[in-house]
Amino acid sequence: MKDAAPQPVFLRDYTPPAYLVDSVDLTFRLHPTKTRVISRIAFRPNPAAQDRRFFLHGEELTLLRAAIDGTKVTPQTDTEGLTCTVPDAPFTWEAEVEIAPEENTALEGLYMSNGMYCSQCEAEGFRKITYYPDRPDVMAPFTVRIESDLPVLLSNGNPVAQGTGWAEWHDPWPKPAYLFALVAGDLVATSGAFTTCEGRKVDLNIWVRPADHGKADYALDSLIRSMKWDEQVYGRAYDLDVFNIVAVDDFNMGAMENKGLNIFNSRYVLASPQTATDRDYDNIERIIAHEYFHNWTGNRITCRDWFQLCLKEGLTVFRDSQFSADERSAAVKRIEDVIALRARQFREDAGPLAHPVRPESFTEINNFYTATVYEKGAEVIGMLRRLVGPAGYDKALALYFERHDGQAATIEDWLKVFEDATGRDLTQFKRWYSQAGTPRLSVTDDFADGTYTLHLRQETPPTPGQPDKAPQVIPLAVGLLAPNGDEVVPTTVLEMTEAEQSFAFTGLDARPVPSILRGFSAPVVLERETSAQERAVLLAHDTDPFNKWEAGRLLARDVLTAMIRDGAAPDGAFLDALAAVARDATLDPAFRALALRLPGEDQMAEHLHALGHTPGPLTIHTAREALKDALAGHLQTLWPALYDGLACPGPYSPGAADAGRRALRLAALSHMARLDGGAQARAHFAAADNMTDEIGALTALLEIGAGTEELDRFATRWAEDRLVMDKWFALQVSLAAPENAVDTARCLTEHAAFNWKNPNRFRAVIGGLTMNAAGFHDASGAGYRLVADWLLRMDAANPQTAARMSTAFETWPRYDSERQALIRAELDRIATQAGLSRDMGEMVARLRA
Ligand code: ARG
Ligand code: ZN
Repeated sequence: MKDAAPQPVFLRDYTPPAYLVDSVDLTFRLHPTKTRVISRIAFRPNPAAQDRRFFLHGEELTLLRAAIDGTKVTPQTDTEGLTCTVPDAPFTWEAEVEIAPEENTALEGLYMSNGMYCSQCEAEGFRKITYYPDRPDVMAPFTVRIESDLPVLLSNGNPVAQGTGWAEWHDPWPKPAYLFALVAGDLVATSGAFTTCEGRKVDLNIWVRPADHGKADYALDSLIRSMKWDEQVYGRAYDLDVFNIVAVDDFNMGAMENKGLNIFNSRYVLASPQTATDRDYDNIERIIAHEYFHNWTGNRITCRDWFQLCLKEGLTVFRDSQFSADERSAAVKRIEDVIALRARQFREDAGPLAHPVRPESFTEINNFYTATVYEKGAEVIGMLRRLVGPAGYDKALALYFERHDGQAATIEDWLKVFEDATGRDLTQFKRWYSQAGTPRLSVTDDFADGTYTLHLRQETPPTPGQPDKAPQVIPLAVGLLAPNGDEVVPTTVLEMTEAEQSFAFTGLDARPVPSILRGFSAPVVLERETSAQERAVLLAHDTDPFNKWEAGRLLARDVLTAMIRDGAAPDGAFLDALAAVARDATLDPAFRALALRLPGEDQMAEHLHALGHTPGPLTIHTAREALKDALAGHLQTLWPALYDGLACPGPYSPGAADAGRRALRLAALSHMARLDGGAQARAHFAAADNMTDEIGALTALLEIGAGTEELDRFATRWAEDRLVMDKWFALQVSLAAPENAVDTARCLTEHAAFNWKNPNRFRAVIGGLTMNAAGFHDASGAGYRLVADWLLRMDAANPQTAARMSTAFETWPRYDSERQALIRAELDRIATQAGLSRDMGEMVARLRA
């Protein structure tokens, strides 16, 4: 078994667990290299199971003893777990294992971060803590005793008792092992309280290292708002006496929803106006909400198996977007979500890593915490809600909670509650879960005798393992504008179900301007020949804020396309249209800032590739810079006016209104820098009293190739603040001139503060380089080489973080044959490395296919 290549598992092979668990008792005697874990687990044969084989997962454990009903047993162990002969009746399993948290660099299971013990078990990390049926459909109440000299000892559920050197916790809610958590450290709390609508008083604590005390207020505030919101909007109340959140510096992803004990990457907890940007505040609010919402969508109702991951993640992302939309601006939130969806999920769907929202097989589940499962998973729920309406959605969700509370559920269960609650047949809709790839929707139209007809054609390109696709249900929100911009048909939802379908609107006086896919009502690529004039009408008059923004984006994209492909000059009409939006004081400044943001270089590469072109990354970069310069020059009187008019009076507040003003003001500043050589940005940097302004000014300087002195001052000022220093590392790589990017990154990897085993720092530098499109794709291949070197190095220590970074190579099909060959050589080099992790092995295999 040991040396065999890791085998994939398949959704279709699911079988129920052979044994169920009635209770779990764990005792931890913590020690950096010799932690003892004693488990007492009450097992019972599962009447629903076909086989009776007793298998417990376990990896990297030293088994010291095992007993069944008090009698010593000697199980057969291998690298994946153990088997043992057991009674054909309920029995108690007892085992003692030894583990070494300090040596755990993979940050999965129980590990140490800056002297504190913490855990990460999703998806399959519990098996590195003790032997257990580590699968989400085995749910049990846990009792945990922690023994350690550290002052703060935490686990799931409610505190039971504590004394000097120990604490006991009990979680009454049956849960799968992936939701287990343990923390022990020298920590201080920012505390609050919340009384639920059911009258339960809940103690809230955000635990941080003493040096970070005072930086958790916003996280606590976000938590309280999330708890209220889930009661008001979903009728979901919290169900324990305490809710603990812990900030950890070394963490593979964003955060984790362990029952009653959320563990967070410290970058999504810690904030002060001086050290966190508006974006950081935004992320904290969003991720605190996300993990909190998991208490119902994920924990009370969990997943039967990991193929159902989108059941909890898609739904919880959808819920946290609703929350953010309610707390901030719905229009701005939608636009930002779509920008991210296109940049990450459409990119994934278009490349070798494309997979369905519910994958059908995997080798390493950690490789499937993807934009497709999360963000497309959320889009699918948004479409469902649009199709059944808000009332139908609420009814279905109420039924979901009522029917499946306490269960490990499937996508079939999820769709069935919608069918039962609304009477709608979702057979065809289900394809959104099984078919990968982004549908392309081409639209033509005609107008005659007052009737306007839209002709739609959908086609989903082939993806790995799925050459042919069937038509999907596409909810298409459409409105019609008169040529003067008046709305003549308000938003209606067309339901497309066929490969080709037409929809007619009658009784119109003139040929309308259609506003199609309002609110981005489906995750599709819309293809339609549109005149610049039509776009200008939409940009100026569309009542749908998303499509108003989209009109500007399409104009920008077409202008850039012409510049890149045909060497055209920046289009004056476009500059004027953008100017009109930028100076329209009736529009939300945050919206105006988004309208001024040009499509990214990676987006342009993808778009041009779809049109059959393969421009060099440097050509794209140069054209985009030229368009920015043109914009700066064309609106040279507007920028100072915006800059002067948008200063935020009073002390810093992370609220949406002030954040929007800062965003637009900093957009103005970055254009001014292109005209004044950075004079204003330097002054802005010097005067900044918050991190948003400081980073904004620094960005403006780096973008014009200046800012060396400011970078130094920044580093001196913030040397002791690791989260701020992550920004310093990331910014200079991602904004380096293409010809300097690789050297900048290499140089930073030699910096004394480049602690590569810290995932945030690694992502700042190596991830920063992959985000510098023209630098990473330098024709020499030096960027590919540097990233591959670091992937190999990181893979040996932390496979999860390395494998995730390997997605940087997923865009290879859109580059020229020289670059493709260079990338392939690096992928080959990785693939043939001895001792490659299962994570990385699967990623390179898929990338090379
Ligand atoms: N469930 C966590 C969240 O809310 C993420 C866990 C990620 N786990 C992993 N192995 N990548 O989103
Ligand atoms: Zn989640």
